[in-house]
Amino acid sequence: MTYENILVDTNEAIATITFNRPKALNALNAALLAELTEAVDAISRDPNVRVLILTGAGDKAFVAGADIKELDGLSPLQAKAVAIKGQGAIDKIAALPIPVIAAVNGYALGGGTEMALACDFIYAADTASMGLPETNLGLIPGFGGTQRLARLIGPNQAKELIYTGKIITAAQAHALGLVNQVFPAVELMDQVIATARVMANKGRVSLRAAKEAVDSGLDTDLATGLKIEQNAFAFCMASEDAREGTRAFIEKRKANFAGALE
Ligand code: CAA
Repeated sequence: MTYENILVDTNEAIATITFNRPKALNALNAALLAELTEAVDAISRDPNVRVLILTGAGDKAFVAGADIKELDGLSPLQAKAVAIKGQGAIDKIAALPIPVIAAVNGYALGGGTEMALACDFIYAADTASMGLPETNLGLIPGFGGTQRLARLIGPNQAKELIYTGKIITAAQAHALGLVNQVFPAVELMDQVIATARVMANKGRVSLRAAKEAVDSGLDTDLATGLKIEQNAFAFCMASEDAREGTRAFIEKRKANFAGALE
């Protein structure tokens, strides 16, 4: 399937979606969001894809936000429809049963930071910058930023970023716990792919169970979260991956999980 606003590439079980509107700094217009939804649906149905990477075309931007030109002059109900559509596309990424890494290679502003927040974790180039500058437009984040940023870095840090609209460097984002690791820009994709390969070689069932346990547990109290973990642990134990993993340890050999890369 070819798209006009994104590139989708799968190499050795690692899929990469590249936001591809470099002249508009990869801003999220309606057409891009519709294509993204289709592409993510296709990836969720493909048992051969074990990790997804999101990045931006060009060396300037990951995603510079929702397309401001499409926001101009909307009625409140039209704006609500835009937020529903954007959140819907981004929720699909968060709900994927495989690990998703954001490779933030430049500006990740507004909807760009919100897109990255839906990934399991973020690696950034040292030249990248992030932020939720929607208050500069008389708006607030509408693609999940008020919710996911506050949950990730805490309400006080999130409020400071949202109220001031300030744009922060990759190093500052790392210090806040928004970004896991920062790399020289030329090394970013190699580092992201190296981590993706490590994860792709784990058992598919255990990665899925781990993601579900962490994500579902965060939405609840500790006692309920621990029960979720017990059930996810038991679910893993029923898998061929668990049999292979435990047997390999006992037989002092490397586990060979079904569909792993090496
Ligand atoms: N929407 C639409 N077009 C955008 C865009 C966006 N979010 N960001 C950049 N562009 C376009 C510019 O209009 C420009 O196009 P033209 O050449 O046709 O004029 C092109 O990309 C290059 O941008 P600049 O000339 O502005 O590049 P710069 O290097 O001078 O500045 C920047 C870069 C600081 C990122 C600046 O472009 C900028 O501030 N962009 C907007 C960032 C922003 O406010 N994002 C939040 C959007 S609202 C949102 O995301 C709401 C939500 O949560 C749902």
